[in-house]
Amino acid sequence: MDDRRPAPAPPPPDPPAGYAIRPITDPSTLRRCEALQAAVWGMGADEIVPLAQLVAAISAGGQVLGAFHEDGELVGFAYAFPGRRADGPLWYSHMLGVLPAHQSAGLGACLKWAQREAAIDAGVERIVWTYDPLQARNARFNFDRLGVVASRYYVDYYGPMTDAINRGLPSDRFEVDWWLRSPRVLARLSGGAPPAPRAEDLPWALAAAAPEGDAGAWAMEPAAPDLSRSDARLLVAIPPDLGCLKAERPQTALRWREATRGVFRHYFARGYAATAVIRAAGAPGPRIAYVVDAQGGTP
Ligand SMILES: CC(C)(COP(=O)(O)OP(=O)(O)OC[C@H]1O[C@@H](n2cnc3c(N)ncnc32)[C@H](O)[C@@H]1OP(=O)(O)O)[C@@H](O)C(=O)NCCC(=O)NCCS
Repeated sequence: MDDRRPAPAPPPPDPPAGYAIRPITDPSTLRRCEALQAAVWGMGADEIVPLAQLVAAISAGGQVLGAFHEDGELVGFAYAFPGRRADGPLWYSHMLGVLPAHQSAGLGACLKWAQREAAIDAGVERIVWTYDPLQARNARFNFDRLGVVASRYYVDYYGPMTDAINRGLPSDRFEVDWWLRSPRVLARLSGGAPPAPRAEDLPWALAAAAPEGDAGAWAMEPAAPDLSRSDARLLVAIPPDLGCLKAERPQTALRWREATRGVFRHYFARGYAATAVIRAAGAPGPRIAYVVDAQGGTP
């Protein structure tokens, strides 16, 4: 099946009650995106994407979408600009953020679906973006909610970062492909998704080992990676709560970075792609793992 095949699509979902999503083009509202970045990521002034860059990107065919509360507050935004690679045009989605007090209401997903619609209207079939593959909640958002696939791994993509979410580890990234009209994405847009594979049926290329003593699941350690597999599908564990791990056991967080880096680079180089994120039962708590698929991300 061709992941890029055009297909009719349902409209993007309505935002939750009390919110609206609309493009931002005027400088005074774009200015508010600067404060939003500081609030969402805990960024310093030197890391914020400034107003002038947003204006320039919009002029070049990009888009800034805002999520507004009914009281007028800007509570989220999505920012993308157009690009082109050897295999065709794309949008590069550089930032998606929702204020903590408004997260988990569905706004992040609504912003992405509205962004998808705009990209299709602009003649684009794919949006790409990067994120830290060890961020389990972002992983679930990207794979479960949106239907991305990932087959490119960048080592220390931005160099050292100082914002509250990213500081303390090399800034390795997945670059995900969101094939806007693929069956995988259309299934999520329609509110459904194929059942995730069962962890019991798949071998671990990287497992999570229970921590010493009575520490909770957050403190699990990476086991020894297995780079010898040639199965159709493999599992790669990640820590369930990277933020907690970085705060409490930074050396364990670094071991996870190094172990997952080695495994993803090895299998991606052999044509595998990450296609799903699953939870697997275990002690002292569930394992979170990527499904890495030899079929390279076709649905
Ligand atoms: C990622 C983010 C944009 C999602 O926005 P949202 O409005 O909470 O998303 P939705 O309500 O549509 O979906 C919620 C899902 O997003 C995921 N998620 C990712 N980070 C999350 C967070 N900090 N809080 C809540 N959910 C989060 C989870 O899978 C969650 O599903 P769950 O509630 O079943 O656990 C938002 O959490 C955020 O701004 N995080 C900080 C910045 C960031 O990491 N941006 C993306 C990478 S650049």
